[in-house]
Amino acid sequence: MKINLFSFVVRRSSDVVLFLIFFFLFSSILPSFGYDPLDPYGNITIKWDLLQSDSGSNYVKVSILNFQKYRHIEQPGWKLGWDWKGKEAIWNMQGAEATEQGNCSRFKGGQLPHCCERTPSIIDLLPGTPYNMQTSNCCKGGVLSSMTQDPSKYGSIFQMSVSAANKADFDMPENFTLGVQGYTCGQPVQVALSKYSSDGRRWTQALGKYSSDHGGTWNVTCMYSQFLASTTPKCCVSLSAFYNSTIVPCPMCSCSCQGLPGAKCLNSGQTPSLLQEIKDTNGQPPSLVRCSGHMCPIWIHWHVKQSYTQYWRVKITVHNQNIVKNYSEWNMVVLHPNLKSIEQVFSFNYEPLNPYGFISKLSSICSAMPLVCGLKRLMHKSAILTQNIMRSAADDTGMFWGIKFYNDVLLQEGDSGNVQSEILLHKDSKIFTFREGWGFPRRILFNGDECVMPPPDQYPRLPNIGQHDAKFSIIALFFPFLLLILLCV
Ligand SMILES: *[C@@H]1O[C@H](CO)[C@@H](O)[C@H](O)[C@H]1NC(C)=O
Ligand SMILES: *[C@@H]1O[C@H](CO)[C@@H](O)[C@H](O)[C@H]1NC(C)=O
Ligand SMILES: *[C@@H]1O[C@H](CO)[C@@H](O)[C@H](O)[C@H]1NC(C)=O
Ligand SMILES: *[C@@H]1O[C@H](CO)[C@@H](O)[C@H](O)[C@H]1NC(C)=O
Ligand SMILES: *[C@@H]1O[C@H](CO)[C@@H](O)[C@H](O)[C@H]1NC(C)=O
Ligand SMILES: *[C@@H]1O[C@H](CO)[C@@H](O)[C@H](O)[C@H]1NC(C)=O
Repeated sequence: MKINLFSFVVRRSSDVVLFLIFFFLFSSILPSFGYDPLDPYGNITIKWDLLQSDSGSNYVKVSILNFQKYRHIEQPGWKLGWDWKGKEAIWNMQGAEATEQGNCSRFKGGQLPHCCERTPSIIDLLPGTPYNMQTSNCCKGGVLSSMTQDPSKYGSIFQMSVSAANKADFDMPENFTLGVQGYTCGQPVQVALSKYSSDGRRWTQALGKYSSDHGGTWNVTCMYSQFLASTTPKCCVSLSAFYNSTIVPCPMCSCSCQGLPGAKCLNSGQTPSLLQEIKDTNGQPPSLVRCSGHMCPIWIHWHVKQSYTQYWRVKITVHNQNIVKNYSEWNMVVLHPNLKSIEQVFSFNYEPLNPYGFISKLSSICSAMPLVCGLKRLMHKSAILTQNIMRSAADDTGMFWGIKFYNDVLLQEGDSGNVQSEILLHKDSKIFTFREGWGFPRRILFNGDECVMPPPDQYPRLPNIGQHDAKFSIIALFFPFLLLILLCV
């Protein structure tokens, strides 16, 4: 009996070890594929509908839709570009405009086209544009909200009339660019025709008269990669707790170092000169931060504030250290295992971010990576463990953002250059502890960019370490038995 039990433990724990090895391999491989486990299907889709085509004139509707859960496009907004295949010209545009008219000298007399460039560069119109130049869903200055934050503002639409280079056919352009750092776009793919209705009773559709190979709707998918966007972080995290007076600051040089070439900062009390405030040629506001050890434009402080019998309380403060930038519609993604038992969030909006189970994420990339399929089979084998992992992977991530007209804009550095919230979490008896820095977040992302965390060995520690180290080694000794209990219940 005892031997049976023992071999059972060994068998199960060897599975577990295998599983853990796979798990860590798997999670360490993922980032290099640019796959984001927090938002596996996130993308920006450019939908191109050919609405009408007659004697060389084509009417096109272009929609830019942000299907990302927590990434948004902030000012100065998108700047869409593509390559025409021939000598097309844009005659008219509503809801957006081309930045350059280009060389239109080949069109003689009368009205000239809106844009004759072979690679046009299109920008959104600003809010407050006259009604006769608008389309529905335009004119937000190129800003797109994330799906979670404001599902009504995740899209931009404009229309244009294009003269064809080749009178018979419409040639879909290629080489699309979004004009926002970090995004790369694929080539257009023909998809099922879009249908439109103004009243829900009659439907019109994008042009399909060119049969199979010249349909009227194309999709272009653009994906984000943080590696492409920026080589340096933009945000860091500092930590403190009520049970220890040490405040663990952001790691030195998290974002840059004082004195490095290109690192500009102002000491406290100094105000930026007019020269420093002038925008650079791309319309991007320059980054000018208050001098600090970390030199990050965003600094987030996580304070474990209080412990009650059933609950514990965390105070989160986001500081804007950038002297010349207001972050409008900011958002913050936090990973912490106790977020599944979040009870109350003060002063911020909150939404959990994990609608897909862990397994379904694996399935979607299973075909691409045989290793993952092996892992999936293994996980089905140890079903209890799988369930536990699914449950904990399912709601340990959440997104916070500001309340409209209250703190949805994170103002530039200064007295009001911060936003704060307190969150109340239920102490889940199975997982809750203040030991080993458990009360601190695993990851924080600000506006979709990973924040630099202090190294775990520096986290504020509970007093009387000696005792608990001894306890820990006893736990390590009895680890197999604990596993047995875990697998049997
Ligand atoms: C882009 O996002 C949409 C909406 O979530 C999804 O239907 C589509 O499959 C995604 N495209 C890619 C290539 O991931
Ligand atoms: C698209 O880009 C490729 C590679 O840069 C280039 O060879 C091709 O000519 C471009 N297409 C058009 C229509 O300009
Ligand atoms: C404009 O295009 C015409 C041909 O269409 C060319 O002759 C002329 O040199 C171009 N002008 C400039 C400034 O590039
Ligand atoms: C094309 O884009 C639309 C978004 O407008 C999306 O609903 C549809 O699933 C996409 N089709 C494909 C095949 O990606
Ligand atoms: C930020 O917003 C404040 C208040 O609305 C405004 O006074 C300030 O000029 C803005 N700063 C920038 C850099 O846009
Ligand atoms: C507080 O935490 C720091 C950093 O981990 C540690 O060095 C220190 O000993 C802790 N203080 C007490 C009173 O335990």
